Amino acid sequence: MTHTTAQPERQTGAATARRTATLTGVQPTGELHLGNYVGAIRPLADLAADPVREVYVFVADLHALNSRPDPAALRERSRRLAAALLACGLDRPNVHVYRQSRVPAVAGMAALLSTVAAKGLLNRAHAYKASVAANVAAGRDPDHGVNMGLYNYPLLMAADILALDADDVPVGADQAQHLEIAADLARQFSRSYRPGVLRVPRALIAERTATLPGLDGRKMSKSYDNTITLLAEPNVMSNQIRRIVTDSTPPDEPKDPDRCTLVALLRAFADPRTVAAVEARYRTGGVGYGEVKQVLANVIDAHVAPMRDRYHRLLSDPAELDARLAEGEQHARRRADRTLARTMAAMGL
Ligand code: TRP
Repeated sequence: MTHTTAQPERQTGAATARRTATLTGVQPTGELHLGNYVGAIRPLADLAADPVREVYVFVADLHALNSRPDPAALRERSRRLAAALLACGLDRPNVHVYRQSRVPAVAGMAALLSTVAAKGLLNRAHAYKASVAANVAAGRDPDHGVNMGLYNYPLLMAADILALDADDVPVGADQAQHLEIAADLARQFSRSYRPGVLRVPRALIAERTATLPGLDGRKMSKSYDNTITLLAEPNVMSNQIRRIVTDSTPPDEPKDPDRCTLVALLRAFADPRTVAAVEARYRTGGVGYGEVKQVLANVIDAHVAPMRDRYHRLLSDPAELDARLAEGEQHARRRADRTLARTMAAMGL
């Protein structure tokens, strides 16, 4: 993780006893894949290993409404995502997992922030601009198919962050602009009302090394349809691994390990000795891709199996999952309610 923006501007008096609040949200859009795990979930779990951090991680179910999902499907995906987060290294006393919609102060904060947000600021947001550009290119009305949820996406995201009074927000590089908007709104609030009410958050942008290649060698991403499912059964995963595209170099010829998707994936999961041994055999020649795929499948399965077991146990015990979410949601609500009350008071409400 690297720090990109300025140090957070601390509010007066609260700095000493307070633990560093680290917050991120994940949209419940589909099954988690290895790229999500290596790029986001594992780094977050690493941050959470430091008990000085209070970590808030939420299922962004309000953001998910923008694409108008089927209600039953959304509910199910949200539960699955929460279970997956808990199963993948985030079930710790200093981590609070919650559904965004269960913290009403977030929506309240979005309403208040909308009065300090310049429309021009949101006009410049990438996702909205991309929709407008696509519409214009197709000769349609610029705002065709754009709902206010999409337009206000960065505003709601700022509310997520500011309501929870977050210091650090680990996100992928694609979210950098959203973080700038959140920081802008906190500063704007300070100018319009008073400083010390809303904390200016800091983005922790994942390093490039945290990007994993997918089946076709491009960045692993749902939009490229090249993913390997994180918590799938072993046979599903090994079938996906068998589909990874390699070149046609025959087994006995030397190969460049730095140009192979299999090695890149191995580096993300295997111990250094296993990686070094495979790399050496690439250079000398004498290893076939089929064999490496088998090694890779074994290594990944050994890593993922305990998480997959925990995931299935949580899903088959709804009371346990509900209890874990209730804990996270209560904690998040208490914190967000405090910020909302402070914000309302500063605004004269
Ligand atoms: N927009 C983020 C994404 O798509 C998800 C998200 C919503 C988020 N609210 C957030 C991330 C607040 C960090 C903080 O990845």
